[in-house]
Amino acid sequence: MANASAGGTGLDRVLVLEVARVTEAAAIAAARLRGRGNEKAADKAAVDAMRRELARVSIKGRVVIGEGEMDEAPMLYIGEEVGTGEGPEVDIAVDPLEGTTICAKAMPNALAVLAISERGGLLHAPDMYMDKIAVGPGYPPGIVDLDRSPADNLKALAEAKGVPIGQITACILDRARHAELIKAVRGAGAAIRLIPDGDIAGVIWTTDPRETGIDIYMGSGGAPEGVLAAAALRCIGGQIQGRLLAANAEERDRAASMGITDINRKFLLEDMASSDVIFAATGVTDGSLLDGVHFHDSAAETETVVMRSLTRTVRRIRTTVQDVATRFPA
Ligand code: FBP
Repeated sequence: MANASAGGTGLDRVLVLEVARVTEAAAIAAARLRGRGNEKAADKAAVDAMRRELARVSIKGRVVIGEGEMDEAPMLYIGEEVGTGEGPEVDIAVDPLEGTTICAKAMPNALAVLAISERGGLLHAPDMYMDKIAVGPGYPPGIVDLDRSPADNLKALAEAKGVPIGQITACILDRARHAELIKAVRGAGAAIRLIPDGDIAGVIWTTDPRETGIDIYMGSGGAPEGVLAAAALRCIGGQIQGRLLAANAEERDRAASMGITDINRKFLLEDMASSDVIFAATGVTDGSLLDGVHFHDSAAETETVVMRSLTRTVRRIRTTVQDVATRFPA
């Protein structure tokens, strides 16, 4: 199994640096296409770079969350084997460019994201919407719950935090489908940070409300992003719940084919990220979680956060890649 690091079982800690290299490469590739108005090109560049770099990592990796099913994604498709084929058997969830539109518009908080777990440690989430609710560490288990109303959740959270609801801020994706939720949250007296995209960062922000001003993440976004966010929270602490929102019978069938037979199941953090996991994200555009890639002379500078659930270590890595055009050709 994927263990044998000194002082504990779980994923080998050497992988911490390996996964950082992978997200760095994807971020550099996407950053070259910031602000060009071309989501597809930026995404493809990130995918290509991530795949190239993953091929060099000493793992027997299997993509469980990727760019889509085998017939619709040429690369990093679900089930694709990645890595050198030598080394621990691991599962991999990738989002080579989280926030394709924000990258294309050169707006804040686009990221390159990857999580790696022991085999079977990450939920195989189909690419559909998921209803999500998340809070950071320090609250009693079940303080918020998808089955409670927004007002009840906000009240419970405010009480646990020891503040009036007026001092609670929720992060919600700015989407028409959230009109009711937004009304309910504002009606309960809380403030809302509306974000244009990027709900992995939205969830992670809840882990440091003093810095980010965000206490809770609410609303629907991609299910794959939900699993990646759960992987991050498994490392930093916090709670997340998710429930798939299948739009039709085809989506229900797709979920079933991936092993999710109860479409109404409420997934807890430990259902989505059930074993030791390493999570890495590199900034593509400057944001409040991470700086984006900065190019100067012939070098690129990146900022990456890498977290490991076994030890709950969170590292921030600033990397300078010299001769970036040669090392990472476009
Ligand atoms: P992409 O990078 O695939 O564009 O995803 C960005 C994102 O905002 C995610 O963070 C979020 O989970 C999802 O899109 C929400 O989907 P939609 O844009 O359809 O509301």
